[in-house]
Amino acid sequence: MARQKPHLNLVFIGHVDHGKSTTVGRILYDSGNIPEQEMRKLQDKAKELGKSGFEFAFVMDNLKEERERGVTIDLSHKKFETDKFYITIIDAPGHRDFIKNMITGASQADAGVLVVSGNKGEAEGGLDSKGQTSEHIFLSKTLGVTQLIVAVNKMDMTQYDQARFNEVKVKITERLKSVGYKVDQIQFVPTASYLGDNLVKRSTHMPWYTGPTLLEAINSLKEPEKPTQLPLRLPIQDVYEIKGIGAVPVGRVETGVMKINDKVIITPAREGKGVTGEVKSIEMHHEQLQQAEPGDNVGFSVRGISKVDITRGDVLGHLDNPPTVATEFTAQIVVLNHPSVLTAGYTPVFHVHTAQVACTIAEIVKKINPATGETMQEKPDFIKNGDVAVVKVRPIQPMVIELQKNIPQLARFAIRDSGSTVAAGMCIDLVKKA
Ligand code: GTP
Ligand code: MG
Repeated sequence: MARQKPHLNLVFIGHVDHGKSTTVGRILYDSGNIPEQEMRKLQDKAKELGKSGFEFAFVMDNLKEERERGVTIDLSHKKFETDKFYITIIDAPGHRDFIKNMITGASQADAGVLVVSGNKGEAEGGLDSKGQTSEHIFLSKTLGVTQLIVAVNKMDMTQYDQARFNEVKVKITERLKSVGYKVDQIQFVPTASYLGDNLVKRSTHMPWYTGPTLLEAINSLKEPEKPTQLPLRLPIQDVYEIKGIGAVPVGRVETGVMKINDKVIITPAREGKGVTGEVKSIEMHHEQLQQAEPGDNVGFSVRGISKVDITRGDVLGHLDNPPTVATEFTAQIVVLNHPSVLTAGYTPVFHVHTAQVACTIAEIVKKINPATGETMQEKPDFIKNGDVAVVKVRPIQPMVIELQKNIPQLARFAIRDSGSTVAAGMCIDLVKKA
């Protein structure tokens, strides 16, 4: 079988109205992914709703309310194939009311395109203390979007002025640096998305610009790595009992590689201390494997481990580098959707890899400014929707969680309560179970 193109999840982020949906729609159109006739229909629809100019945005904005208001509300996904990648484009909303949708989109993404209007005042508006350019930059970094491209858009409204492009570039660079992005690897592309300048076709209006078009910049992103170099972590999703074989745990390898005959531990397991054994067989889609890699969803058997010992939420690792069981951890969280305020003592369910464990928020350490990462308040009494905070967390029972800086795949979690996601976050420090 021919090797398929690598898959890339690419999220479009940025302040409301800066042109994310238009950029996506236009790049799809200019690359031949939207038939002429369909484009004409969208143009008519936009005119009919008094929203001329939004026709390219309508490619991504499909909801009635989105079209009438001319804003993106929910995420929309579209397939896009380039020479190099098989891309899933995720168009996120910029409006602050829909930030939780943006957060979901960013958490699904490998890379992002930050769209910033170059128009006088608009770039600055996105960067002020309530601006979504700043907030999206912070959240993307927090949620693991490691690679970014910046489109400085609406260049037609600045007379394609090079000085203005440079001015915006300096401002955005500063903000990216402040949250920890490596700015020398980030490409800035001046665009006029509505007109198609520098998306697929090189603009004739900006001879001073010699860098890549947006499409070229996207093609030069790095292929998302399979984290084979990290320690083996395989969260158990389910355990079956199969006649003649015994216990068959199933799950997806998140990091590292598991081979036949490896000495492994599954922890915390029933007794809280973990159970150990040797990998006897590995199977995927009814085929026997010699080894399982990140992304592989496998069933396997381990000599010495029986079904009663282990359950969903336990994690498998190598015996010489076992998964970390925490009795307490420190996390950075974003409150997305809580009906009132969140205070110390609150005990919702944390969803970490395949585990669901009730955890008490023991202490709210500090509140952070999402735009700058600076501390806003030490030990606040409560936090509410939109707040970013550092909290101390105590799981009700032993649970595997890893540090963001060591194994990010097992550091992220969602906090849920009464059927909705209340907050999301990552583990930044922890106390290991003795
Ligand atoms: P939200 O999803 O609601 O945050 O907005 P968005 O960032 O997706 O912006 P959208 O694509 O909906 O565009 C907003 C408005 O900006 C529309 O009227 C577009 O026509 C206009 N626009 C987008 N790109 C350009 C551009 O390059 N030049 C000009 N002049 N207008 C643009
Ligand atoms: Mg939009």
